[in-house]
Amino acid sequence: MAAIASSSASASTPSAPALPAPRAPAVLRRMLSLHDFEEAARRRLPRPIFGYIAGAAEDNASLRDNREVFGEWGLTTRVLADVSQRSQAVELFGERYASPFGIAPMGINALSTYRGDLVLARAAQRAGIVSVMSGTSLIPMEEVARESPATWFQAYIPGDQARIDALIDRVERAGFRTLVVTVDIPISANRENNIRTGFSTPLKPSLRLAWDGMVRPGWVAGTFLRTLLRHGMPHFENSFATRGAPIMSSSVMRDFSARDHLSWRHIEAIRRRWKGPLVIKGVLSVEDALQARRVGADGIVLSNHGGRQLDGAVSAMRILEDVVAAVGPDYPVLIDGGFRRGSDVLKAVALGARMVLVGRPFNYAAAVGGEAGVLHAIGLLRDEVDRNLAMLGASSCGALDRSHIVRRASA
Ligand SMILES: Cc1cc2nc3c(=O)[nH]c(=O)nc-3n(C[C@H](O)[C@H](O)[C@H](O)COP(=O)(O)O)c2cc1C
Repeated sequence: MAAIASSSASASTPSAPALPAPRAPAVLRRMLSLHDFEEAARRRLPRPIFGYIAGAAEDNASLRDNREVFGEWGLTTRVLADVSQRSQAVELFGERYASPFGIAPMGINALSTYRGDLVLARAAQRAGIVSVMSGTSLIPMEEVARESPATWFQAYIPGDQARIDALIDRVERAGFRTLVVTVDIPISANRENNIRTGFSTPLKPSLRLAWDGMVRPGWVAGTFLRTLLRHGMPHFENSFATRGAPIMSSSVMRDFSARDHLSWRHIEAIRRRWKGPLVIKGVLSVEDALQARRVGADGIVLSNHGGRQLDGAVSAMRILEDVVAAVGPDYPVLIDGGFRRGSDVLKAVALGARMVLVGRPFNYAAAVGGEAGVLHAIGLLRDEVDRNLAMLGASSCGALDRSHIVRRASA
C-alpha cells in the first residue's frame, strides 16, 4: 500500500474518527498509479454503473482534452536546491490540508462501494485532504457530516427560492463548513453512453439489468444486497431539504427541477444565507470567475465537469493562467478534470491553482478496495507530488510559480 504516512505534512482539519485502519485487499498491490484503478473497477462493477462513472458527453471531446492538455505543458527544474525539508501541505479557507489535491464531488458513490460517500469522506479525513460530498448522493448528508466533519458539501441549486433556502439551512444544520455550488448544469447533458449501457436514474428493473448484476456477483453481494438488507432501498437523500426518489424503480420519476432560469441573483441569495466559505464550481471563463468574486464567493472551481456536460468545452487547464491573472493570486482558484499524476497536479499549482480535485480515480479506488483502496490511491498521488516537488527543486507548493512551467512550442 502506498504510504499515507510518508507525507511530511499533517493536516489541522478536524481530527479523523478513531476507527481502525482498514485492511488492504491484495489487489491493491497491483495498483501502481491512479490509471490502474479504472480497469480493476471495470471488472468489479456492473456495466451500467461503470459506464456512468467513466462516461462523458457525446463524443468525449472534452474528456480527451482534459488529458491531452497536460502534454502541452512541460516542467523546468532547479537543481541543488536543498529540498530535504519538503511539505506539500496547503492552506485553504483557514484550514491546513496535507496535500494540494482532494476528492471531487461525485453522485451515487454508494453504488460504487458499500456506503460509498462515507468511505470517501473517511479516507480523505484520515489522510487530511479535501473531500466534497455530492448533493446527488444516496446517504443522508447528516451521517457524513457527523462522521467526517471536515467534508465539504456540494449542492445543485434547486429551482425555486424556498427550496434553495431550505436546502442551505439543512446543510448548515448538518454541520458542514464549506459549501460548493455547482453551476454548470442549466439543463441535463446528452449522455448517450448512459442509454447504451442501460444506466438511468432511477435504474429501471429489467432482465438486462439483472444480467449485468449476475455477472458481477461480488458487487451484488458486497454492495447492492448488503445495502438493501442493512439500510433499505437507497434514495436520493440530498438534492433538496427532503428525501427524493429511490435509486431503483420502474415507475418513479426523479425530480430534475428546472435550472435553466437560474442566474447570479440566486448565488447572491445563497451568499446572504450561507455564512461559511462558498465555492462556485463549474466556472470556465475569466468573466464568470470575476463575477463569482464580485458576488462574494470565496473561491471557484474551474471545471468542465469531467467532460460530462458541454462536449467541446475546453479543459479548465487552458484558462487557468488567464483566470488567476484576472482574479489575482490571493483569490482561491481550484481546478479539476483529468488530473491523474503528481506532475499534473503540480503543473496546475505552478499556474496558480490553490487545489486540484480528482474525480473518477477515487471512485474506482473505492469500488476496488473500499476505504483502503481510496487511501492507497491518495498515497500514490501524494508520493508522486512529493517526489516531483523534490525533482522540481521546490520544498513546498508555494515555492512553485510560472518559472517552473513552459508551454510547448507546438501547442
Ligand atoms: C461519476 C461522476 C459523478 C459526478 N457527479 C457530480 C456531482 O454530483 N456534482 C458535481 O459538481 N460534479 C460531479 N461530477 C464531476 C466531478 O466533480 C469533477 O468535476 C470531475 O469528475 C473531474 O474530472 P475527473 O473525473 O477527470 O477527475 C461527477 C463526476 C463523475 C465522474
